[in-house]
Amino acid sequence: MKVEGRDYRTVWMEGNTVCLIEQNLLPFEFKIFRAENHRDTCRAISSMVVRGAGAIGATAGYAMAQAFVESGDDRDYVETARRQIENTRPTAQNLFYAVERVYNAGRHSIDQAVNEAHQIADEDAAACKTIGELGNHLIEDGSSIETHCNAGWLAFVDYGSALSPVYAAHHSGKQVFVYADETRPRGQGARLTAWELKNENVPHAIIADNAGAHLMSQGMVDLMIVGSDRIAANGDVANKIGTLEKAIAARHYGIPFYVAAPVSTIDFDCASGKGIPIEHRHQDEVLYQSGPNAEGKLEKVRVSSPGSDALNPAFDVTPAELVTAIITDQGIFKAEQLAALKNSQHDE
Ligand code: MRU
Repeated sequence: MKVEGRDYRTVWMEGNTVCLIEQNLLPFEFKIFRAENHRDTCRAISSMVVRGAGAIGATAGYAMAQAFVESGDDRDYVETARRQIENTRPTAQNLFYAVERVYNAGRHSIDQAVNEAHQIADEDAAACKTIGELGNHLIEDGSSIETHCNAGWLAFVDYGSALSPVYAAHHSGKQVFVYADETRPRGQGARLTAWELKNENVPHAIIADNAGAHLMSQGMVDLMIVGSDRIAANGDVANKIGTLEKAIAARHYGIPFYVAAPVSTIDFDCASGKGIPIEHRHQDEVLYQSGPNAEGKLEKVRVSSPGSDALNPAFDVTPAELVTAIITDQGIFKAEQLAALKNSQHDE
């Protein structure tokens, strides 16, 4: 994707340094974060310099590759690094998928570990491009689409999942309008999705998290597309907190509710959503907000009653029965078709 006319990926590697678009500063400042070793990269993942399933996955793969390069063949170093990377964020399936692949490749040679990490990043971008092409067929000219959180190119290596069909529709000349849920507490919709859509000249409006059902009741939403951090084998979908409420509202108003994700997000070993670990993050994300002050300097301010604590589950699970279909890089599937998809993966 382009930022001010220049092509960028969300994550890439230069030498043994992992380079990331610093998402905590967006949309106010565009800056590249350079993680010189796997520990820096782990901190970048847990502090959400990089976030979103595919981007986390590619970054974790690079972190594992960094660890092999740093290890000088010290196996204990690699094992400790693997545990550290896997402990950064528990919900995103792509993290575990990428670490496993790079770890296995690194058993043969350090070069193979690095090549595997690059391969995962390239595959992620290609998968998201395909999701866009397939998902575009579900979008009619003149559609209004609601989305939650950010599942655009910033959440992947490129293109995005939920926003990829929107970009494909827009570029193919269809009129589309996007309602971007603000997505408290971190504001990925208001900050990141809105920034992406503005860069791509896609007409859109940010809506408060609690406005979606009202818009649906007024006939203002034709379909909803969201991303996913992990999909269980039965089609239950973990995604950013608040997704479940939207799916319930969409079902009530008869609005198609699509989930877009590469097959690498499906955890075929996890039988149902009950097995998906839900990350709980620090309460300050709910109690405080940050933004530029009058001088343009980023400032953190309390937006809640002093003395109250907060609860901050970062994800929820939408049961498969509320999901119209899952748009993947290998086709568009109903939950009950995932078993066949699993078998086809194992046949390859
Ligand atoms: O906590 P985050 O920002 O890493 O959350 C992940 C997400 O971006 C969303 O849940 C998204 O909708 C699915 S991942 C592309």
